[in-house]
Amino acid sequence: MPAVQWFPGHMNAARRKLAETLAAIDVVIEVTDARLPAASGNPLIEELARFRNRPILKLLNKADLADPAATKAWMAWFDARPGVRAAAISAKNAAEVGRIPALARQLAPHRDDNTKPLRMMLAGIPNVGKSTLMNALLKRKVAKVGDEPAVTKSQQTLDLGPGMTLTDTPGLMWPKIEHDADGYMLAASHAIGRNAVIDEEVAARLGEILLARYPAALAARYRVEPSALDGEGLLEAVARRRGCIVKGGALDLEKAANVFLTDYRSGALGRITLETPESRALMLAAKEEK
Ligand code: G4P
Repeated sequence: MPAVQWFPGHMNAARRKLAETLAAIDVVIEVTDARLPAASGNPLIEELARFRNRPILKLLNKADLADPAATKAWMAWFDARPGVRAAAISAKNAAEVGRIPALARQLAPHRDDNTKPLRMMLAGIPNVGKSTLMNALLKRKVAKVGDEPAVTKSQQTLDLGPGMTLTDTPGLMWPKIEHDADGYMLAASHAIGRNAVIDEEVAARLGEILLARYPAALAARYRVEPSALDGEGLLEAVARRRGCIVKGGALDLEKAANVFLTDYRSGALGRITLETPESRALMLAAKEEK
């Protein structure tokens, strides 16, 4: 069974609603997390956008936290996909957000005649930064649509300056998580589903990825020798270094897991990306072989 599964029962309702909305949209803006651009995407969005022949502006958000070299590789990878254009941004950076309307316009030049507004839809799984982006685009705060399933929420369409509208998709947007690895990466990156997966397991899996991809960052932060460790060993080392000890002297691995996850999420370990186009291709190929 996959480690993490969210709202699988709402998939069909979500699909229908999204397909309906897309009929009256010119450009789909899909927000993903630049630290895990594929795992934080929703394949349904691309599938339906292609079906409706709508271009997708794929935003790799939180680029301020991601490894710039990996972000560059992902942008090239997405740009090579038909109907997709990628941009890396931080929704917290007003100048970067300011580029988005022009990028969306380029994708729908037929709407650029001053009579037809450019209709954009904002989509993405929870926690990738949709509300932050929406507020930045509107230059004011709008109520968060929330992460509840689509069927219980209505969507809102807002004017985004002259000749542009932005439709917020209902919070739904959790795809079925097809790969365990994606579930772990998502759980590690977003403080969500705390009951869905055990933090220690998530932290150990994150540890394995970082030991392979960013050993120097771990060595610098925790003064450990990465080559001698696996994910669990790393957590034990973090527990010792940070004094995570329970009564009786045993290591408090739950606390260490929280320390480690917080360090990663806050950027204290540096700019990190958990997957690259290559690592993803390898993961998918290994699954096919099974
Ligand atoms: P959502 O609507 O897609 O669910 O996501 P939301 O905007 O609520 O953002 C989720 C979290 O990600 C928020 O942090 C938000 O501040 C943060 N975030 C969004 N965009 C960026 C970005 O480009 N860079 C960075 N570093 N963080 C970003 P939070 O901890 O939930 O809230 P808070 O700390 O902002 O109060």
